[in-house]
Amino acid sequence: MIKVGLVGFGKAGQAVAQVLQDDPRYELCWIARRSAATPAKSAPVPDVPIAALASPDDWGQWLDAHPVDALVDFSRPESLHLYGEQVRRRGLMLVSAISAYSAADLDYAHTLAKDARVLCSPNITVGINFLIMAARLLRKIAPFADVEIVEQHFREKPEVSGTARKIAQSIDVDEDRITSLRLGGIVGHHEVIFGFPYQTVRLIHSSIERRAFGTGAAFALAELQRCENGFYSFDDLMMRRVRNELLVDQGH
Ligand SMILES: NC(=O)c1ccc[n+]([C@@H]2O[C@H](COP(=O)([O-])OP(=O)(O)OC[C@H]3O[C@@H](n4cnc5c(N)ncnc54)[C@H](OP(=O)(O)O)[C@@H]3O)[C@@H](O)[C@H]2O)c1
Repeated sequence: MIKVGLVGFGKAGQAVAQVLQDDPRYELCWIARRSAATPAKSAPVPDVPIAALASPDDWGQWLDAHPVDALVDFSRPESLHLYGEQVRRRGLMLVSAISAYSAADLDYAHTLAKDARVLCSPNITVGINFLIMAARLLRKIAPFADVEIVEQHFREKPEVSGTARKIAQSIDVDEDRITSLRLGGIVGHHEVIFGFPYQTVRLIHSSIERRAFGTGAAFALAELQRCENGFYSFDDLMMRRVRNELLVDQGH
């Protein structure tokens, strides 16, 4: 069983903690937060210690006393610099979901990957990453098809979805092919429509709840375990998995 420490216990971290606790492949050993404040009453509090780790020294002492095999980070970009040297020194696996790393943060993460397995992914759901991979394949096979991207989110979301922009970039279509609809409380809906002359293909992903981030983190941990030290994106891990599945199908 892989021993995991979770960094961050906000909206996403709380959902991820539930998934990791329910997954028999993992032992969620502890959770690190910025503050030691008691979580809100509504928060699902897992049956593990919650620590406030504010400095690199705190991290070193905590990991000496509470060793783990992997860190899963759903906190803030700055945490990377607090625990980074421990990842390097102890060769910990790192799954970081932080969406807002600067170029300098990512450079630092790359340096850690010389001594550890590091995954950084601004989008960590299996479903969206699978949709992007399928859309890229279809775009290669049918470059003549018209392509439109539709994204739907809750009424208050002001900006065009970052995921929709990532999809557009991945399949090399202009961002003005994205249509955004704002409706009620939709959590997140992304659709890529391929218009062929005599048929239409629609690839659709709908988010149901934040626990999908936990499923993605669990997938990443399982795949990283089979990798060499290095820096990986979610695409890399997904492609490795698909290649392996295809080889098994072909009897290799
Ligand atoms: N890649 C993806 O698909 C994906 C999906 C969802 C979220 N995310 C990322 O996950 C992160 C959290 O999102 P959220 O919506 O859950 O935010 P949030 O509700 O604001 O929660 C942030 C959490 O991080 C903790 N934190 C902040 N600085 C820390 C530090 N230095 N050390 C340890 N913990 C620290 C906070 O501690 P306190 O509780 O003590 O304040 C809080 O628990 C964001 O960076 C977001 O981009 C990524």
